[in-house]
Amino acid sequence: MVPREIKKADKRPVKNGGKRNRAVRVISITSGKGGVGKTNIAANMSYILSKMGKKVLLVDADAGLANVDVVLGITSEYNLHHVLNGEKRLPDVIVEGPGGFKILPAASGIQSMAELSKGQKLTLLEELNDLDEDLDFVLIDTAAGIAGNVMYFNMAAKEIIVVVTPDPTSLTDAYALIKVMYQNYAVKRFMILANMVEGSQEAEKIYIRLSNAADHFLNISVDYLGHICSDRKVRAAVRKQSLLVEMYPDSKASEGLFEVTQGLYQRHPEDAASGTIRFFGGATVDNND
Ligand SMILES: Nc1ncnc2c1ncn2[C@@H]1O[C@H](COP(=O)(O)OP(=O)(O)OP(=O)(O)O)[C@@H](O)[C@H]1O
Ligand SMILES: [Mg+2]
Repeated sequence: MVPREIKKADKRPVKNGGKRNRAVRVISITSGKGGVGKTNIAANMSYILSKMGKKVLLVDADAGLANVDVVLGITSEYNLHHVLNGEKRLPDVIVEGPGGFKILPAASGIQSMAELSKGQKLTLLEELNDLDEDLDFVLIDTAAGIAGNVMYFNMAAKEIIVVVTPDPTSLTDAYALIKVMYQNYAVKRFMILANMVEGSQEAEKIYIRLSNAADHFLNISVDYLGHICSDRKVRAAVRKQSLLVEMYPDSKASEGLFEVTQGLYQRHPEDAASGTIRFFGGATVDNND
């Protein structure tokens, strides 16, 4: 099944004086390798965007482990499992996170949820389409790797953030993910976010390696979204089940998260890859170099 894009159904009644059908940006946060920081990034970005006055839904699509709950210390009575089984509707399941963003909790620890059936995927998309919320952003925190579910959620998103760390296997796994998304699903647009780096130089090096490989072997160009420094405060916030940007807004990693989220916010989805490597800071690097 080729997943349909998650978007507002045009035929629904118009609310808010006719402004109801503003476009919702559906962005997946994904990676080839696990443990690269996706859940932390997704949760902190959701918080920053909602503090900017945007309506955000964070979808915990890591059906194997309900990470978002853990990071935020949120307990929810119902989850995606109940929606997919038709027991509950989405609004009954969505909970409020810090800063007012909404969270769609994943089904926790239920093995069979790791691979959703086609029917369940369809139910989920329909439920998202029917959601009676005026959303600006839907951020999807995916599982790692190239399993069917990850691909499905990435396909459902119009914008894909691939999180990479300096760990060499993270880079090769990110490339593998991009390759599969491109070759099997014709996806050509990716934003690279370097996490747990020492600074911008290391991040740009990672990006250039990935970008060169994508350009050389796949003939596609990938965008650079930015970097987040390795910072002990990240783990400290997780331990306290608090959001980094709320608890330690002046930390190095928070600085990166604010910058990256701002860059993402200002970005127009149609800006994506077009033959030259773009750094959001403004500088461009020619792909042919
Ligand atoms: N910038 C950072 N600096 C230091 N530690 C970090 C940073 N980003 C994430 N971490 C730590 O790395 C670990 C993994 O983070 P996280 O759970 O967000 O990764 P993930 O990609 O969602 O993992 P999974 O693939 O298992 O879902 C956590 O302990 C987190 O605190
Ligand atoms: Mg995670």
